[in-house]
Amino acid sequence: MPTPIPILDLKAQLAQYRDAALAAITRVVDSQSLILGAEVKAFEADLAAYMGLEHAVGVSSGTDALLVALMALGVGPGDEVLTTPFSFFATAGVVARLGATPRFADIDPVTFNLDEAGVRAAIGPKTRAIIPVHLFGQMADLGGLYDDPQAPPIVEDAAQALGATLRGRMTGHHGAATCISFYPTKNLGAFGDAGAVATTDPALAERLRMLRVHGAKPKYFHHEVGGNFRLDALQAAVLAVKLPLLDGWAAGRQANAARYAELFAGSGLVERGLVTPPAATVDGAHVFNQYVIRAARRDVLRAHLAEQGIGTMVYYPGPLHLQPCFAGLGHGPGDFPAAEEACAEALALPIQPELGPDALARVVAAIRGFHRL
Ligand SMILES: Cc1ncc(COP(=O)(O)O)c(C=O)c1O
Repeated sequence: MPTPIPILDLKAQLAQYRDAALAAITRVVDSQSLILGAEVKAFEADLAAYMGLEHAVGVSSGTDALLVALMALGVGPGDEVLTTPFSFFATAGVVARLGATPRFADIDPVTFNLDEAGVRAAIGPKTRAIIPVHLFGQMADLGGLYDDPQAPPIVEDAAQALGATLRGRMTGHHGAATCISFYPTKNLGAFGDAGAVATTDPALAERLRMLRVHGAKPKYFHHEVGGNFRLDALQAAVLAVKLPLLDGWAAGRQANAARYAELFAGSGLVERGLVTPPAATVDGAHVFNQYVIRAARRDVLRAHLAEQGIGTMVYYPGPLHLQPCFAGLGHGPGDFPAAEEACAEALALPIQPELGPDALARVVAAIRGFHRL
């Protein structure tokens, strides 16, 4: 069996920051200040500065970032929140948890993301917020909608896209609030669960800070019902160590994506319709949290690659509108055909910056081998 090429090997990156992370962890352990506090404040300041925003509020996960952002905007029963059917479950799950209804617009099959025309057509009288997901690390191009004062509030789901840009503007500058996940597989991963909500709006930031501690200010005086959405000091300390490395890692991912594009261009796979590499049609920087191709006979190909020691993932095997828990929404197959097709064809290939050209060449050669090219 040749050397495995896993979809992601977090250990391959560890040496770059291990000593600094352990020193930060030791500092927190010695302080015994374990939740929120100075470490979280310091990381929030670093993150806000990185994003060029005034406020970043550390929370317990990307899911809780979305949940608390919608709570802060007052989303509740009777409201609808418009989003994509092609995302991680949390994007729509948080809407339902607040008693509101997820509504979907189909994706652009080229970018896998929502687009302006589709979203505008789906906005209705009950649309209380819009969640564009910057899937795989590329920003959803909602065009003029991002600057439209008549549009419902926009909550960017930048869980996979911290640092991505659209026409020179970074994630975080396109809506009322922006939600980030630091789940370990994200480009900036914590040593466990963590997330953040970033905003320019001081009143919203204040409300987010209150909601993450059960709506209390000061402690034990509860103005509204929030939750425990606090960020641990250990996670904040580790994230502060890793944040300065984020852009370098993104550059490594972009270089690997460019290398894949060259390899696929000379492979014979693209013109035969067997592989469609991710399109760089959006004017902006894609940070390639995932490198997702469309692949013919995806599931059989995946098994073939696994036999060669090559790890892949399917993001996502089923669209949100067809999840059993959303049966009450009344959707059926065919309602959002582009999302459904993406679920049948999308395949994430190894892309992490530590992978060298030989590994990428092996991945493409294995796909060619599968198709006998
Ligand atoms: C698009 C998207 N939204 C939300 C989330 C939720 O983030 P978390 O896993 O940190 O709760 C994730 C990540 O898992 C995601 O990829």
